[in-house]
Amino acid sequence: MILEGRGVTKCFGGVVAIDRVDFAVEKGEIFGIIGPNGAGKTTLMNLISRLHPLSAGEIRFRGRPLVEVPAHAVARLGIARTFQIVRPFPGMSVRENVAIGPLFGGAGARRSVLECLRRADETLEIVGLAARRDAPVTALTLAGRKRLELARALAMDPELLLLDEVMAGLNRTEVVEVKDLVVAINRRGVTIVVIEHVMEVVMSISRRILVLHHGQRIALGTPQEVASDERVVAAYLGKRYGQPRAEAPTL
Ligand SMILES: Nc1ncnc2c1ncn2[C@@H]1O[C@H](COP(=O)(O)OP(=O)(O)OP(=O)(O)O)[C@@H](O)[C@H]1O
Ligand SMILES: [Mg+2]
Repeated sequence: MILEGRGVTKCFGGVVAIDRVDFAVEKGEIFGIIGPNGAGKTTLMNLISRLHPLSAGEIRFRGRPLVEVPAHAVARLGIARTFQIVRPFPGMSVRENVAIGPLFGGAGARRSVLECLRRADETLEIVGLAARRDAPVTALTLAGRKRLELARALAMDPELLLLDEVMAGLNRTEVVEVKDLVVAINRRGVTIVVIEHVMEVVMSISRRILVLHHGQRIALGTPQEVASDERVVAAYLGKRYGQPRAEAPTL
């Protein structure tokens, strides 16, 4: 197990955003998190990346409790993430935005600026943004900014990559491109936790899926298992994915 959560709980005032959730992510897998709006998906990711402190419970990364790690050092441990709301540094180029990741946070932090720019170029090549590297980030479309987010996280050489709705707002063609990219990154050996509302995608790429509802875990299993789980169908999937099926749907 690369990542393990036990009794993970987060309260905001009176709101229990994450309620005693247990989960474990295996090294090398794509682990999906799904659930209705407000279910607690982003909050769980914020707890893993230490953006928020836990209210109760424990999360371990490679066996080590994350509470022992200062929040700013999490990326250096090998955990990188994207944000649901993409906020690039507006005054900088695409390439400079990507170089910031390894410069300030990545696994091999304290590299030289030159090395970080080189790393940015390699990563922009992987995500298909190499031709735009000198463009101002403000010139990118939404799909471009999502790729930039992926590149910025990837440039940090993570062992574990947390993706929060990298496909939201993209058209069908762009969704397929980003899906293929996520699978390609996973094949390079990066374990991925992915929050996604595009069901065809999350069902086809995830090995296992955690389903949250009102902060609670209502299911955890293979795509086939969660798609045929009555509670999951009632809370989230509805009829379309609710039929028990032999295989995960593909795009
Ligand atoms: N910083 C915060 N302060 C107070 N409440 C918060 C905070 N962040 C999240 N919440 C609350 O926690 C609950 C879970 O929110 P969260 O953003 O994790 O949901 P989500 O599953 O990511 O939803 P979506 O699919 O809309 O992105 C919601 O009730 C939300 O209002
Ligand atoms: Mg969210």
